[in-house]
Amino acid sequence: MLADFAEVVQKGTRDEMLLASIDWERLPRHVAIIMDGNGRWAASRGQPRIAGHRAGVEAVRASVDTGARLGLGALTLYAFSTENWKRPRLEVDALMRMLRRYLRLELDEIDRQNIRFQAIGRIAGLNANVQREIARAEERTAKNTGMILSVALNYGGRAEILDATRAAVRRLMEEGKSPEALTEERIERELYTRRLPELDLLVRTSGEMRISNFLLWQAAYSEIYVTETLWPDFRRVHLLEAIVDFQRRNRRFGGLQLVANAK
Ligand code: IPE
Ligand code: IPE
Ligand code: MG
Repeated sequence: MLADFAEVVQKGTRDEMLLASIDWERLPRHVAIIMDGNGRWAASRGQPRIAGHRAGVEAVRASVDTGARLGLGALTLYAFSTENWKRPRLEVDALMRMLRRYLRLELDEIDRQNIRFQAIGRIAGLNANVQREIARAEERTAKNTGMILSVALNYGGRAEILDATRAAVRRLMEEGKSPEALTEERIERELYTRRLPELDLLVRTSGEMRISNFLLWQAAYSEIYVTETLWPDFRRVHLLEAIVDFQRRNRRFGGLQLVANAK
């Protein structure tokens, strides 16, 4: 896996040092990122918020590329929450336009890296043209066997749990079972993340110490890493730092014994 970085990482850099200290046997299986701070990045430069979103695309590229080279099982990016509709129409439209553009421009590269793309969230609530671009990317990469890249759009953790519970209850009723037959496994099977490994590491940029309705169910025992770096400035080195930090944590999952990360 180190070899996958040979073409992009220079000798003597911090990237190289961090890569050398990674324990390849204990990589997080699934990393999720709350991409935050685009507005503040723009404001600090006297630019409109949208300029921050535009600059954030480069951070998305860097994270996806790094995740794929590392060989992560899954990378999930929080791009638009169910609450983000409260923002000005112009900003929402710009975000949706950028998403379509990103998918159009990056699809070849995503496919080349054997990445499987999916959108998670209430996708039916998005504009038809956004849905079309998503469907195209999902179909094109459906047979890929590498990292699963999930982009959370019109996503809310509570909405996800509600939708999944409804679906699980519907199945129970079809099977003529009682409410007591409802289990965590049955709910898990209906979550958007059903095909993904356990969420090991949740990253948030821009220093904010909250979850903002992201992956509420999945984050039950995830390690949380918050960096002051604003999303548009986030690069390979920051993701590597998060992973090295993760590998120093002691996870106990409620027990007393230390559990080695991700194995
Ligand atoms: C994150 O940056 C991008 C989205 C939520 C879509 P913000 O737009 O929230 O930036 P800040 O938090 O205002 O700096
Ligand atoms: C979380 O960021 C949502 C996304 C990154 C898509 P927000 O900026 O919307 O969250 P709050 O308002 O700081 O909680
Ligand atoms: Mg924000």
